[in-house]
Amino acid sequence: MSGFGTLAVHAGAPHDKTTGAVIPAISLSTTFAQSAAAKPVGEYEYSRSANPNRDGFEQAIAALEKGKYGLAFSSGSAATATILQSLAQGSHVVSIGDVYGGTHRYFSKVANAHGVETTFSNAVEDELASLIRPETRLVWIESPSNPTLTVTDIAKVAGIVKQANEGRSADEQVFLVVDNTFMSPYVQNPLTLGADIVVHSVTKYINGHSDVVMGVAATNSDAIHEKLRFLQNAIGAVPSPFDSWLAHRGVKTLHIRVGTASNNAQAIAEFLEKSPLVEAVNYPGLESNPRREVVKRQHRNGLGGGMISFRIKGGAESANKFCQNTKIFTLAESLGGIESLCEVPAAMTHAGIDVKAREASGVFDNLVRLSVGIEDKEDLLKDVEQALQSAASQ
Ligand SMILES: Cc1ncc(COP(=O)(O)O)c(C=O)c1O
Repeated sequence: MSGFGTLAVHAGAPHDKTTGAVIPAISLSTTFAQSAAAKPVGEYEYSRSANPNRDGFEQAIAALEKGKYGLAFSSGSAATATILQSLAQGSHVVSIGDVYGGTHRYFSKVANAHGVETTFSNAVEDELASLIRPETRLVWIESPSNPTLTVTDIAKVAGIVKQANEGRSADEQVFLVVDNTFMSPYVQNPLTLGADIVVHSVTKYINGHSDVVMGVAATNSDAIHEKLRFLQNAIGAVPSPFDSWLAHRGVKTLHIRVGTASNNAQAIAEFLEKSPLVEAVNYPGLESNPRREVVKRQHRNGLGGGMISFRIKGGAESANKFCQNTKIFTLAESLGGIESLCEVPAAMTHAGIDVKAREASGVFDNLVRLSVGIEDKEDLLKDVEQALQSAASQ
């Protein structure tokens, strides 16, 4: 069994059998020649159904997520939509209150219109057993969540789902989906903790260079894979060969990028925790984190990852000023790239959520979210320090 770095570099990336090229060519052809009717020359027929670049990327993600199968989509949202489309009308889903806003929107405004109902819980570990109904088919969680970085004990949730499945037929099974976008497969592998499907917005850490929008799902189950692969082709929300190639190139350095971003974020979170200009810091790597024991169990070496959120003193105005005054951190949405970004969730990514619900899940007006990149730690620390001072003095 190879280590993570070896798999990241080599999984799904054999050298070209005819030319010896160590990096695969981009296979742009939409169709593939056949020697007789329904007898393709090679493995491929039509690029929506399968494409060499997408195949290579899918194999790499399956290996890194310790799954048997990977399926790539044109965005993380398309992966979500395809999984939800696998549910029959009348199915029920349980999710977390602070699930990614786009996923919340899909559950409540799209799946709902197709007869799939979702219950959102702000205490899923405690409430899940009582929220699962006879028609429940999916439990969908994120850990850590966005932007409060609330950690959920994935193995505990998987245990509750397993118990609920006792005595249910194959068609009535409840599946656990974990959105692992925030941690990436380098920090956490939900399939090994009991999840049935792991999903990613590849747009974030997996591609890692803020130049591709893409999604992926991985599973160990033959039945789930068969169903989702059918829908991947039938719905057709697939990534282009070029995007698949770029994302596959990006994932080869995932361990280096996420390791560096996590080390940088740890130093910044520890600095913020000591600052008199900061009210509170959410970061899974801090020893003071209330779920630190869970983090140590489910994250590689207890790593905290590259995402931090903190409440700055001085309210919404200070949060905005902090983000306007950073010189290395760019004020922008998204996350998981090589470059550091900052944003104010209440005014940006989470502005669409009703204030009461937003504050109930910890997204206050003075919350700042950082996506820490791989620049030099000392430069990032200096940038955060000067932006805090500027926000306080204006
Ligand atoms: C946790 C999480 N899941 C899913 C998505 C959706 O991914 P995409 O933007 O690639 O559709 C995002 C996007 O921000 C996300 O942060």
